[in-house]
Amino acid sequence: MSAVPGTAAPAAPDSSIARVKWLACPSSAQWLEQAIARPDLVLIDHAHCERKAAGVALQLMFRYPGDAALAAVLSPIAREELEHFEQVVALMERRNLALRPLPPPSYGASLTAQVRRGEPGRMLDSFLVAGLIEARSHERMALLAAHSPAPDLRDLYAALLASEARHFGAYWLLAEQRCGRPATVQRLHQLATLEAQALAGEPAGAEQVRMHSVGVTVAALATCGPPLFDPGEPWRGGLDPGEAAG
Ligand SMILES: [Fe+2]
Ligand SMILES: [Fe+2]
Repeated sequence: MSAVPGTAAPAAPDSSIARVKWLACPSSAQWLEQAIARPDLVLIDHAHCERKAAGVALQLMFRYPGDAALAAVLSPIAREELEHFEQVVALMERRNLALRPLPPPSYGASLTAQVRRGEPGRMLDSFLVAGLIEARSHERMALLAAHSPAPDLRDLYAALLASEARHFGAYWLLAEQRCGRPATVQRLHQLATLEAQALAGEPAGAEQVRMHSVGVTVAALATCGPPLFDPGEPWRGGLDPGEAAG
C-alpha cells in the first residue's frame, strides 16, 4: 500500500490493533488508505453514522415499548450516540467542514435486509445487526485512531472507541438474554459472514469512501469461517485480549 504524502505508510490493518471478535474478516489496507486520504468525507459520514446509531436504539425502544430492561440499556446508548454526534460535529466546525448529506454505502441497507420479519427472529437479528455495525465501527475507528496523521482526528477516534466497544457488548447481551446463547451464536455466525460479504469487492473511488464502505481483506473472506467468538469463553466486551480500546 502506498503512503499518504508526508506520512508514513499505515501498518497492515489486520494487526492486533483492531481485531474484533464479532467480525468475520478484517478491514483492508485499501480501505484504510482511502480513509486516511479523505478524512473530511469519513468525518462527515461518521457524524451521520452516530446520528443513525442513536436512531437505531430509539427505533428498538419504540418497537418494544413494554420492555423496560431493553429501554434501560438502549436509552443511555441513544443519548451517548447523540453526544458522539455532537463531538464529531464540533470537530468538523473546527476544521471548517459543514454537515452535508452524503450518499451512504449499501452496507446498512444490505444488513437490514437480512433481518427476519417474524418474531423472535426479528428481535435477535436486529440486535445482532446493530452489534455488528458497532463492531465494524469500532474496528475502523481503532485503525483511524492509530494511523490518522492529524492529532485531532487520532484523539477523536481514540476517545470514542471505548463506548463503541460497550455498545456492541450491550447488543450481544440483549440478544443472549432474550434468545439464549446457542441461537445467538448460530445466528451471529451467519450474519457476521454476511457482514463481511457486504464489504467485499473492489473499493470504489476515494470520493465514495465512508466509515462502512467496501474494504475487507479478500483472502481472509475466502477462509474466514465463523467469527472469533467462542461460546465457551467468558464475555470480554467482544475484544481480543490486550485490545483495550483507545
Ligand atoms: Fe457512537
Ligand atoms: Fe455506538
